[in-house]
Amino acid sequence: MCCTPRKVKNMFTTRALQDEILKLKKENDICILAHAYQSHDIWETADYVGDSYGLALEAAKAPQNTILMCGVRFMAETVKILSPQKKVILSSPLAGCPMAEQIDINMLRAMKEQYPDYTVAAYINTTSELKTLCDVCVTSSSAVKVIGSLKSDKILFIPDCNLGAYIAVQLPEKEIKLVRGGCPTHAKMTVHDAEQAKRLHPEAELLVHPECIPEVAALADYVGSTTGIMDYAEKSSKKEFIIGTENSIVQHLQFACPDKRFYPLSKGCVCVNMKLTTLADVYNCVRGEGGEEIILPDDVMKKARKCIDTMLQLG
Ligand code: 13P
Ligand code: SF4
Repeated sequence: MCCTPRKVKNMFTTRALQDEILKLKKENDICILAHAYQSHDIWETADYVGDSYGLALEAAKAPQNTILMCGVRFMAETVKILSPQKKVILSSPLAGCPMAEQIDINMLRAMKEQYPDYTVAAYINTTSELKTLCDVCVTSSSAVKVIGSLKSDKILFIPDCNLGAYIAVQLPEKEIKLVRGGCPTHAKMTVHDAEQAKRLHPEAELLVHPECIPEVAALADYVGSTTGIMDYAEKSSKKEFIIGTENSIVQHLQFACPDKRFYPLSKGCVCVNMKLTTLADVYNCVRGEGGEEIILPDDVMKKARKCIDTMLQLG
């Protein structure tokens, strides 16, 4: 009979730490939600792993009293807004999404004055304060459906001009005003990277996130959210894929489909904010000694909730 080593020299093994987390989260009535860009050792401790849309849905359903969000700040804020009675912890206080900070409330006020008859649609990667001024929010997986269902044909889309451009191609009947903003991580992937990867792996399909620049998205066989990319690759009869999103997805897919091959589109596509959370942070959070509890003013939560609820109804 073999036994699992519990310690390497004087350190805990990954497995031992994971076992402690699983035990403590149960004892302390904690639900662990992990965004798809978290590391695989964290995935294995989570109650749910998914894209931003899936996380918002799960947050609203989770029966536990405390939710630990392993991801970035806007995701934890969304959970808090959907479950204001729950204690919501962000796994790493420093983990923000730079895109969510690109527009502040005064800039949005000025834009709304400039385009008074436009419906304001915000990518969910925005602060909760900004959401208080928006009509609806969207995620990468719900955007086309939600914006396609809006009565208005005039849409001011903030802050990701790449996702906005992708939506505009899918919904030519809508007039979509874009602002200059986007994900610095996905912006690192270039047409040159895509062409080179295709040359190196001529049999592979190219799967990219809509946060990529339009010129890269135009070369892709599939454009979708993190969960969308994973589902596509898992179901496809093809054997090789070039992955145009945060590089952790390459590793997760390799675990999910060991007989297929996955290649990163660019070695630079690493979200340092998503990578701030470690398994040790998760351990500290479930024993009540880490992370940051999300506290938002009641009026902000109430106003911001409207645009998230509209997304959930239309999506
Ligand atoms: P998803 O909705 O696909 O999870 O995207 C969130 C995100 O921040 C991607 O960079
Ligand atoms: Fe934000 Fe980009 Fe990181 Fe996603 S990958 S959390 S959009 S910085």
